[in-house]
Amino acid sequence: NVGNSTNILWHECPIQKRDRQQLLQQKGCVIWLTGLSGSGKSTLACALSQSLHSRGKLSYILDGDNIRHGLNRDLSFRAEDRSENIRRIGEVAKLFADAGVICITSLISPYQKDRDACRALLPEGDFIEVFIDVPLHVCEARDPKGLYKLARAGKIKGFTGIDDPYEPPCGCETTFILQIVLQQKGGDCKSPKDMAELVVS
Ligand code: PPS
Repeated sequence: NVGNSTNILWHECPIQKRDRQQLLQQKGCVIWLTGLSGSGKSTLACALSQSLHSRGKLSYILDGDNIRHGLNRDLSFRAEDRSENIRRIGEVAKLFADAGVICITSLISPYQKDRDACRALLPEGDFIEVFIDVPLHVCEARDPKGLYKLARAGKIKGFTGIDDPYEPPCGCETTFILQIVLQQKGGDCKSPKDMAELVVS
């Protein structure tokens, strides 16, 4: 039995992940961006994707806001729905990685247990968790969509960082690739655009 289904069997195809990777000359993986709203996840995901594209690498972005327009349009921001949002996107990301694609996800993904569950779907090392470590006061000052203002006014309930939790990644195995990039280049990044330009450059 799998979930609520019975009598289902896995069907294997002779063309496998390694064959697709060979065709594409790259390794399929998941780069999981996590951070508060307004931290710059979407901007950085685009910059990363552009950078990979210019190097001849196939990537694809799964963005929380965008996927909530379609596949996950039935989900709210209650804790159970956020977990289901992460679970579904984790499964889709796994399929992209299996296709040989570098899949970049851009979701708040506030709960460590949900991010860990997505990591567990992939072979060791194929899930790279990236914490976009921008403090709440900076995200709130940016407030690109005016949502923090609405949350502070009580017009949005359960907004991450205001009256809903965000659990930053704590595992030392987490690869903070963007931080490494930024440290190497010694950038002084004030906005996601600054950061994105550094990543791409
Ligand atoms: S989650 O927590 O991972 O399921 O969220 P995600 O799918 O990434 O969606 C986050 C975007 O939804 C908008 N939004 C909210 N965010 C947090 N809390 C509440 N209550 C909320 N309501 C709407 C917000 O614009 C987020 O966009 P980003 O891109 O993160 O700024």
